[in-house]
Amino acid sequence: MNPTRSTASITQETLTVTERPTWEQLHVWWDAMWNNPEDIRVAFSDVMPRSLPRFLESDVMLVLLTVGSDCVAGIWLHDLERVHGHVTAGWVGGWIAPPWRGVVGCAAAKLALASFQARGVQHIFAAINLANRASIALTVGQSMLGFTRVMRYPGFLPYQGTDTDCLIATWHAEDVARAKGAAARRARHVARLRAAPGGIMTTRVRQA
Ligand SMILES: CC(C)(COP(=O)(O)OP(=O)(O)OC[C@H]1O[C@@H](n2cnc3c(N)ncnc32)[C@H](O)[C@@H]1OP(=O)(O)O)[C@@H](O)C(=O)NCCC(=O)NCCS
Repeated sequence: MNPTRSTASITQETLTVTERPTWEQLHVWWDAMWNNPEDIRVAFSDVMPRSLPRFLESDVMLVLLTVGSDCVAGIWLHDLERVHGHVTAGWVGGWIAPPWRGVVGCAAAKLALASFQARGVQHIFAAINLANRASIALTVGQSMLGFTRVMRYPGFLPYQGTDTDCLIATWHAEDVARAKGAAARRARHVARLRAAPGGIMTTRVRQA
């Protein structure tokens, strides 16, 4: 399908939400996502696994969004928190395929959030590199995902080996205090990873 000709007619109804993607779908999404160095530099911190098997092993809840056979977006929750074994909270990560960015990408992200909520996730937080203006616009824009800004967290995550300030945001406005607590726990977790043998694997992105 040619997105440039069909985007106007794509709605939330025509996007398919895939909670159990096939290996083939996973590989298509993963390879496309890492194929754009310009995106990746500000998008994914050094803590994110760089291989698909390691990513899938890292305790994530993932949704792929498709239109026909095209992968439109991959949206996931990581650093999951559980109550009595059920996931109740997580940090959102995502990627929207370049041809589908804009209205369709936003609709896809909303469907993913609804899917997480339907599976019992009540609290969703975001930590966004301040240099990632597109992600900030999508996440906190009132006409977009409408997350609430919580704080600027200095040096929250390493990107390309540099501790980088991030915007912390929360899906539900009433979760501001909860988001601050979750951010503090996550910062301690990253500090433990850094102190572990081998530390954080800093994989520099190939220069374009
Ligand atoms: C972040 C991302 C999901 C946003 O996708 P999207 O909302 O569908 O579409 P766009 O990328 O076109 O950007 C969304 C908005 O940000 C704006 N924007 C894009 N780049 C920008 C920049 N450098 N500065 C300011 N605003 C910018 C766009 O103009 C658009 O706003 P508009 O709708 O008012 O025109 C997508 O760019 C992406 O997948 N990026 C790579 C992965 C990533 O960064 N993931 C998030 C990790 S936190």
